[in-house]
Amino acid sequence: MIEIRDLRKTFYRGTPDEIQLFRGFSMKIEKGDFVTLVGSNGAGKSTLLNLIAGSLMPDSGEILVEGRDVARMPEHKRSAFISRVFQNPSLGTSPSLTIEENLSLALNKGRPFGLGRAKDRRRRERFRERLAALGLGLENKLDVKVGVLSGGQRQALALLMATEVPPSLLLLDEHTAALDPNTAGVIMEMTRRVVEEHRITTLMVTHNMKNALDYGNRLVMLHRGSIVVDLRDEQKRGLTIAQLMDLFSRTSALTDQMVLAEFTQI
Ligand SMILES: Nc1ncnc2c1ncn2[C@@H]1O[C@H](COP(=O)(O)OP(=O)(O)OP(=O)(O)O)[C@@H](O)[C@H]1O
Ligand SMILES: [Mg+2]
Repeated sequence: MIEIRDLRKTFYRGTPDEIQLFRGFSMKIEKGDFVTLVGSNGAGKSTLLNLIAGSLMPDSGEILVEGRDVARMPEHKRSAFISRVFQNPSLGTSPSLTIEENLSLALNKGRPFGLGRAKDRRRRERFRERLAALGLGLENKLDVKVGVLSGGQRQALALLMATEVPPSLLLLDEHTAALDPNTAGVIMEMTRRVVEEHRITTLMVTHNMKNALDYGNRLVMLHRGSIVVDLRDEQKRGLTIAQLMDLFSRTSALTDQMVLAEFTQI
């Protein structure tokens, strides 16, 4: 289970540009939940993921991952159990390394290197199988440098790497936004498969309202650093795109004072 308690983060404190983004933000994510996170530009979605992953430190607050407060743990340590896939396909993989080398790095995450030859062969077979399941022809390209792959192929690989060792939490930040519609569909289905297969607790940011509704068991809308909509299971399943769009436009009218008042759900 993931629990965020009373998180605070202000940018440019004490200057005219000060942005008090998170002002006592709290959220619980149950183990195995697949949460889709929506909200307008600047709502704080990526910042929330940055704070959880450790690429940003909060001013105060706790981030409990399976009972352990990781809020001040360095990012590289958190990466042993928090995986992330970004919008930009070049961020999740190393371009100068081959597919096999990239996957090996992901597999060895948090563990020492040095596997025997027999293990090497078995590992190669396993990589081949996982790649073949994508249907992108990558299983025959284990020795190809990742830098020459298309954005969609790289994103597929990034997702494989992020889940090679199933993490306690998978963070996806608009991970299909830079892909053509077909490839985005392939990556979304792969996401569903891998998340379901390992029951990975997942937080996925998207601007695609259909994806926000079609995937996951819970939908959260963020506005000015606060949760303004939080729907799960039947409530989420009953929601239409038109209703979600309506919630979106009503949300955009909410001021800081309104989201901070008792008014946490619209
Ligand atoms: N490292 C930073 N330094 C200063 N300001 C930041 C930093 N990171 C985020 N912000 C500010 O925090 C606010 C929230 O940004 P964030 O990127 O989290 O929004 P978002 O919800 O991900 O938006 P988008 O949908 O455009 O990706 C913005 O006003 C942004 O300028
Ligand atoms: Mg963002």
